[in-house]
Amino acid sequence: MKTAIILGSSRSNGNTNAFARQVEKRIGADFFDLADYQIAPFDYHNSYEDDFAGLIAQLLRYKQLIFASPVYWYAASAQMKVFLDRLTDLLNFHKDEGRQLRGKRVGLLATGIKPIAPNCFEQMFKLTFEYLGMEYKGMGYCCTRDTFELTTHGATVNGFVDSIGY
Ligand SMILES: Cc1cc2nc3c(=O)[nH]c(=O)nc-3n(C[C@H](O)[C@H](O)[C@H](O)COP(=O)(O)O)c2cc1C
Repeated sequence: MKTAIILGSSRSNGNTNAFARQVEKRIGADFFDLADYQIAPFDYHNSYEDDFAGLIAQLLRYKQLIFASPVYWYAASAQMKVFLDRLTDLLNFHKDEGRQLRGKRVGLLATGIKPIAPNCFEQMFKLTFEYLGMEYKGMGYCCTRDTFELTTHGATVNGFVDSIGY
């Protein structure tokens, strides 16, 4: 199954990237770093000159999407939140593309310094995926008090990979 990983972090070489890269390697996914794209915040007038339409057209070709975000203040990264907000375009202005999200498999990768991710972090993603008609396969979370290390976090990588299809 073709899988795309979408990274939204304030550092492209940080902990969330390291975690997501291990999953990428294990399942042979394609990798999209939101830092490589200009994505404007949602605009009620649908007036954009940015990369969102091109990026989503590519992502819709995949059967499975994995969103990767650090926990920043109990929530998704700002980069990821802007991207999620823009999925609204697909409900309002590009409904054919919006329908293509339905039934897609979706997973979530996250890192944070706390031993477990706050419920509200996963809940926001889960409810959004459900609203969009996507099939949520669950979250992999690494507590990265220092840096992501395969020796420490390898079991979480394995657990996540086992829990999703690929
Ligand atoms: C602005 C900011 C807010 C953060 N808030 C939280 C938080 O609420 N809970 C948590 O567990 N870690 C929090 N952290 C720690 C990061 O989630 C953690 O260091 C993560 O691994 C960073 O991933 P990155 O390298 O992809 O940015 C925060 C870090 C930053 C920079």
